[in-house]
Amino acid sequence: MNISVIGSGYVGMVTGIGFAELGNEVIFVDIDEKKVDTINSGKAPIFEKELDELIQRNRNKYKATKEYNIIADTDITFICVGTPSREDGSIDLTFVKSAAAEIGKVLASKDMFHAVVVKSTVIPGTTEKVIKPIIERESGKEAFKDFGLAVNPEFLREGNAVHDFFNPDRIVIGVRDKKTKEVLETLYKPFSCSKLITDIKTAEMIKYASNAFLATKISFANEIGNICKKLGIDAYEVFKGVGLDHRINPAFFRAGIGFGGSCFPKDIKALIAKAEELGVNPKILKAVIEVNEEQPLKMIELLKEHIPDLKGKRIGILGLAFKPDTDDIRESRAIPIVQKLIEEGANIIAYDPEAMDAFARMFPQIEYASSAEKVITKSDAVLIVTEWGEFNELNYKGKIVIDGRRVEKAMKEAGIYEGVCW
Ligand code: UDX
Repeated sequence: MNISVIGSGYVGMVTGIGFAELGNEVIFVDIDEKKVDTINSGKAPIFEKELDELIQRNRNKYKATKEYNIIADTDITFICVGTPSREDGSIDLTFVKSAAAEIGKVLASKDMFHAVVVKSTVIPGTTEKVIKPIIERESGKEAFKDFGLAVNPEFLREGNAVHDFFNPDRIVIGVRDKKTKEVLETLYKPFSCSKLITDIKTAEMIKYASNAFLATKISFANEIGNICKKLGIDAYEVFKGVGLDHRINPAFFRAGIGFGGSCFPKDIKALIAKAEELGVNPKILKAVIEVNEEQPLKMIELLKEHIPDLKGKRIGILGLAFKPDTDDIRESRAIPIVQKLIEEGANIIAYDPEAMDAFARMFPQIEYASSAEKVITKSDAVLIVTEWGEFNELNYKGKIVIDGRRVEKAMKEAGIYEGVCW
């Protein structure tokens, strides 16, 4: 099949190159010339495990361009542009709207049927109420008749996106017209997982409900973990026991300093904003965010139990990315932690294998170390904020360590050790 993908972020890039690997021809369309050049030179424009190899292997099956016109040569277009948060928590549809308008312009002069598939995360109702009228207006054509429209949410984890693309738990397709349904079923034929076909707004909601539930699991684990900490109980042992119940499942109970990233905080805030607009008070969702915002500061409370006055003290930070195996610092728990330490007058020395450049743009005033070892040797106490694999090989002997992510080696050998929920 000939596929075009609008937006070469981690969703667009992984989805497109994944489909190329499965034997399709793929065109990446992006407004950013630098990204287009990078992709055409055979490299990934983002840091994502296994992506470079996949790109290399499929060099002859894809190309990237800034020109939307090329969409006309393809059978199906995936919209994979970002939907960032606005001040009030609702999502900003600027990129989705402009992608829809550009697609519409191209479809105006295309005679053959074309399927447009939304992968960007959009609030239920958006595809039919916002995207559809834009494409219809610009193309002068009718949705579900002259062109197809569907929603196919992604469930890719950053840092594991390539693996997740090829090994999904399920594929959700929200679709109305028969032709688009057939196109998507053919495209997803190589996948043996469950495939759920729904209407369009249900598919949009499945994405939000999934992320909201996963985030709820984390905040729930953290709340139980906070109680465990006071009682001298290890929350990880507790959740081992809890997760053995098949109705519950052990995943996503890693208690600690909470969730960051480009999806969970943004999606939950967007769902809260929509619920309130509809006159529904989303009490659980609000609590999920509240617990998540307080959790990182527990590290500072624990630190002050051992160093009451942080003024002038050298505090080491291990990990700045919102999770390991990514250079992404969006909503990273390191941000409120560093802010609070600066307020308290501490001198910070930080290290992250991938995220230091991005973090230094936000916090140029702190010191960045060339290695994790240097953070340990040069600090009065160390805070573990991201569980990069290499942090489990360091020498923590004799150090004060406050651990937000449960790094086993630190647990075993630190001089003074405090886990946030254990
Ligand atoms: C998430 C969803 O998993 C994915 O399906 C969706 O498409 C996008 O959002 P991602 O944000 O890449 O993916 O990361 P994920 O691995 O889910 O972790 C999110 C955050 O939760 C991280 O900050 C992580 O440290 C934290 N987390 C995760 C916990 O604190 N505890 C856990 O048990 C799991």
